[in-house]
Amino acid sequence: MVTLSLVYLGLLSLWGVRGEVAPNFNNCKEFFFREKPVSGLNITLPTPVEPNTQNLPNPEKCLSAYNAASPAYICQIYNNQYYFATLYDRARRIPLYSAYKMDMKAKPERMGSIVNYEPQLVHPELAQNQMNKSRCLREIQNYNKKETNSCPEKDKYKKYKQNYKLNWSQAVDEDYSSSQGNYTRGHLNPAGHHQQDASQATMTFTNVAPQNPTMNQVHWNQYEQKLKVLNQDCSNVYVVTGVVPGKEWLNYRVNVPSHYWNAFCCTDNN
Ligand SMILES: *[C@@H]1O[C@H](CO)[C@@H](O)[C@H](O)[C@H]1NC(C)=O
Ligand SMILES: *[C@@H]1O[C@H](CO)[C@@H](O)[C@H](O)[C@H]1NC(C)=O
Ligand SMILES: *[C@@H]1O[C@H](CO)[C@@H](O)[C@H](O)[C@H]1NC(C)=O
Ligand SMILES: *[C@@H]1O[C@H](CO)[C@@H](O)[C@H](O)[C@H]1NC(C)=O
Repeated sequence: MVTLSLVYLGLLSLWGVRGEVAPNFNNCKEFFFREKPVSGLNITLPTPVEPNTQNLPNPEKCLSAYNAASPAYICQIYNNQYYFATLYDRARRIPLYSAYKMDMKAKPERMGSIVNYEPQLVHPELAQNQMNKSRCLREIQNYNKKETNSCPEKDKYKKYKQNYKLNWSQAVDEDYSSSQGNYTRGHLNPAGHHQQDASQATMTFTNVAPQNPTMNQVHWNQYEQKLKVLNQDCSNVYVVTGVVPGKEWLNYRVNVPSHYWNAFCCTDNN
């Protein structure tokens, strides 16, 4: 267990970088006001430990995200471009916050549904781009094939293959549908504050957390629109939206936040 604090973030930034899920946001600092990641969060972050290693000879290679440190620092990449930053709590399978710059020219349109996953959360050696489920599963499958030497018994453990690896490493569609409408996918970084690919890039499961449907469709939606009105004369708006983890879980896997929070600032004229 670790407690996330300013000191902790500072220490982590001294460590080396492995893959894109780096222990810091160095590759996407520009999405934070003064390039400084959010500090002052006091949230306990358990390390997700896969409960059943089935005596695999090499669990760190055979399993997904085996004992991977939480949180994951995700520089969100869509079509090979950075769009925003997300601090992802691997054990609760929700983002703790997403940080971005608001596009004042964006029209409030919705770009389809939430379809993308992060192969990089399955294993740091996997692709950094967000991708839809079928492509993501193919990435994992190709990786599994390459693993022959390091995970010799992989064929005996079919459930550890691509589906399992994906859904161990992050929340999936089934988690949300299991609530039968009691909870919807609440965006932290909303599609409506962006346009085109930047808007599409928000459609990833690592940028949503369970949210009460009325809060999602009515209150929070109105708040997101109000943010644009409040900042309409501003050309540089930094926004961070986050959650406070709660006591309820979806599908025994995905934490339902007790609160959503938001901070923004306009940096025109200092
Ligand atoms: C952080 O949270 C823990 C328990 O949740 C509390 O005991 C502690 O005082 C908090 N620390 C700060 C700096 O607020
Ligand atoms: C997933 O993405 C690939 C490539 O981006 C695309 O060809 C395919 O049609 C997509 N599949 C679904 C189910 O959307
Ligand atoms: C995860 O994948 C495994 C293996 O395919 C499957 O049995 C399980 O139901 C999946 N869990 C979720 C939440 O989708
Ligand atoms: C949805 O909420 C209702 C009312 O609280 C509850 O009775 C029902 O069991 C919930 N459904 C699921 C799938 O959690």
